[in-house]
Amino acid sequence: MDKEQLKQRLFSLIDTLKDKVIRVRRDIHKHPELSGQEEHTKYLVKGILEIEGYEIKEFEEHNGLIADLIVDQKKPFVAIRADMDALPIEEKTGKPYASEVKGVMHACGHDAHTAIGVGTAIALMSVKEHLPWNVRFIFQPSEEVNEGGSEEMIKDGALEGVKAIFGLHVYPYLSTGQIGYKYGVMMASADTFTIQIHGKSAHGARPHEGVDAILVASMCVNSLNHIISRRIDPLHPAVISLGTIEGGTAPNIICDHVKLTGTVRTVNEKVRSKIPKMMEDSIKGTTHAMGAKYDFRYDFGNPELINDDKMVDILVQEAKKILGEKNVIDLKEPVMGGEDFSRYLQLVPGAFFRLGTCNPQKGTCVSQHHPKFDIDEDALPIGMKVLAATALEVMHEKQ
Ligand code: NI
Repeated sequence: MDKEQLKQRLFSLIDTLKDKVIRVRRDIHKHPELSGQEEHTKYLVKGILEIEGYEIKEFEEHNGLIADLIVDQKKPFVAIRADMDALPIEEKTGKPYASEVKGVMHACGHDAHTAIGVGTAIALMSVKEHLPWNVRFIFQPSEEVNEGGSEEMIKDGALEGVKAIFGLHVYPYLSTGQIGYKYGVMMASADTFTIQIHGKSAHGARPHEGVDAILVASMCVNSLNHIISRRIDPLHPAVISLGTIEGGTAPNIICDHVKLTGTVRTVNEKVRSKIPKMMEDSIKGTTHAMGAKYDFRYDFGNPELINDDKMVDILVQEAKKILGEKNVIDLKEPVMGGEDFSRYLQLVPGAFFRLGTCNPQKGTCVSQHHPKFDIDEDALPIGMKVLAATALEVMHEKQ
């Protein structure tokens, strides 16, 4: 069987697997698990793939799972990654497969990613004897939190022997039947910070005897908001957003302590590396001028997600064959959201793409992280076909 015949065989297998994959997706959707708690999901995946003949690796410290299809121990791997965690959101879709766990919901579509991973794994296993390379499925926990699961999976050897890696994310801004790709930087780095302002409390009627941490904090907020607009090249997108502010005890007491937290997003490593110092300089100057003190903590999170040009070429070529030229969309601009798939791409060439899931008739065009978010399940086999064909092509091209 030649490569193109093999792809056709895979595609018809995937079509027959569609109902099963929908059932897997709905099972996971009904039983969503927060980051770090993906046990049911892991055992569901394990149960299916073990029977299919996959070599399974589990880990003591987290709920990640590696499933290997071994053709020959000496051959390299192409890897496909799926994330498994849900979000602390109360589902309001009213669908029959809606979350049965109060306050927890697959509002980012990771249930679909896991189901697509399972389905692609079953399809590839059934053509095992025709595969030139091994295939590894990385089922990853804790994508939604800053101390992300991809780091743990990498630490535990998920990329050993891996020569190329692919992943996808469902996307309600593209229609079912479309995918989106992007050369180079696709998503932003995502860092967090905490600022504490220490003032001195006093009676609200005698402000001169204290140092007003609320006023100092508000001046810091103001000056931080000038960093992007006045000190960063406008051609390099960047965001500094403050998300929380807490402080004070009573209306008539000068507040002595305020805590602020926020996030920084960039799509350029040089810009990213400059921002912490600019922020600290600004806080230092402001607090000094007002007689206050500060603590500043900056936590580097996921780096920018940077796709490999050659891998995008292969992905686009395969997707166009499956979906038609006009349904493979160049996204052109990066988005300021973060994604920990970026950590795999720092170490191994690969590509991440967007799987269109918007279908107005089914009400699946609602944005992610929304209580009414849902996907069009007709997109599941599309994701499987694009991943399977791309993986197959990489194995043949690099052989
Ligand atoms: Ni997500």
